[in-house]
Amino acid sequence: MVRIAIDGPGGAGKSSLAKRVASELGIIYVDTGALYRNIGLFVLRRGVDPKDREGVCALLPEITLELKFENGRQVILLSGVDEGDNIRTPECSMAASAVSAIPEVRAFLLEMQRETARKKSVIMDGRDIGTVILPDAEVKIFLTASPEARAERRFKELSAKGVETTYEKVYSEMVERDKNDSTRDIAPCVPADDAVLLDNSKLTEEGSLKKVLKIVKKKTKPHNFYSRAKIIVAPPFRFFMRVKAYGLENVPKYDGFVICANHIAAVDVISIGAVCPRQLTCVAKKELFSVPVIGWLCRKLGAVRIDRGGADVGAIKASIKAAEDGKVLTIFPQGHRYPGVNPITTPVHSGAALIAYHAKCDVVPVCINVKGGKYGFLKKVEVHFGKPISYSELGFVNGGRQEYQDATDKIFHAVCALGDYESLPKYIPGSRKAPKRKKK
Ligand code: DC
Repeated sequence: MVRIAIDGPGGAGKSSLAKRVASELGIIYVDTGALYRNIGLFVLRRGVDPKDREGVCALLPEITLELKFENGRQVILLSGVDEGDNIRTPECSMAASAVSAIPEVRAFLLEMQRETARKKSVIMDGRDIGTVILPDAEVKIFLTASPEARAERRFKELSAKGVETTYEKVYSEMVERDKNDSTRDIAPCVPADDAVLLDNSKLTEEGSLKKVLKIVKKKTKPHNFYSRAKIIVAPPFRFFMRVKAYGLENVPKYDGFVICANHIAAVDVISIGAVCPRQLTCVAKKELFSVPVIGWLCRKLGAVRIDRGGADVGAIKASIKAAEDGKVLTIFPQGHRYPGVNPITTPVHSGAALIAYHAKCDVVPVCINVKGGKYGFLKKVEVHFGKPISYSELGFVNGGRQEYQDATDKIFHAVCALGDYESLPKYIPGSRKAPKRKKK
């Protein structure tokens, strides 16, 4: 999970930059200025002076604001209506700036902004994101430019929208707004101590985007035991087992999700980990934690300990929390290893679906194909990553055993569809039976 805060004065280009960063990283963009603008609009329509603290506070109980995301796009409903460009007029900008200096208005909007960033990776722009709203954000950028450059951009933006104004008017309003926003007592527009300052007066949009992506990459690079172990283990493993990855573009870059894969051998997890760009969190049976070296490794790698004897509520809760915290939980729903057996013919457990339901996260199907069905030196191992199955596609309504089983069928069907199993009978949900295991 990543939270990126972009603060800075008006006209610095925060919103267009943040939108592009969001689409590059596959995360959502939250424009917090639009919240203040909606309040400014409401206050103006009611004929109240936006600087009149008492008058504005008296209106707050009447304001209903809803912040939601439709196909990744932010939508704000003011009394149930999306006001669109009505909040972008110069009058509304000044009103937003005035109401944003009122502590009660800021308190009114605080939780709504924090809640948005609690479960999803976001890039949020505003004035106080790095200092007040998300003080723990992994990346903080303070974007600025000279007042002249900002006024020029804003003037062009307004003219393109058909708003009649002049450069001089835009410039003087911008300077006034800068003063209001940066000198107010509460949450002034100032860089957080740990923010990276970026002046884009002379940069193109492309140049700013490149810089921000570089900052994000640097700040979010893991420096932990997993990444160090991966550097040592992954290259020789990939080489000697001839591991090849397919569909890596399907791996979400930041949010938590569940990987569901077929299970051939204990090294499956290394096959996935050696090619997956994200750090994996595994679920390991509790007995493994007491095996020398392996137990130490499980602990160092943050594996979730599970008691396979029965319903292990603690392990389920820990798994849900891991997915909620933005981790990549790797689960083998077959529960057992089935070397040389087509996964479609094996029984599967529905724990992964239960976790996805509670963590409200997506599931990425992964199919491991080993030539001949068994791992071996220089044999080819293919790791196929399928398209994420979104939470809504999993068809949950109220949860429950039947829903988890149906979702599991859907997930495992997707796992098998990624493999090379065309020669086998068509998949019929719920018809799978455990294959008889040969006695050694
Ligand atoms: O980013 P913008 O121009 O749409 O913001 C409108 C006003 O809202 C701006 O003048 C200051 C205020 N604002 C704020 O105080 N804190 C934020 N996080 C975002 C905007």
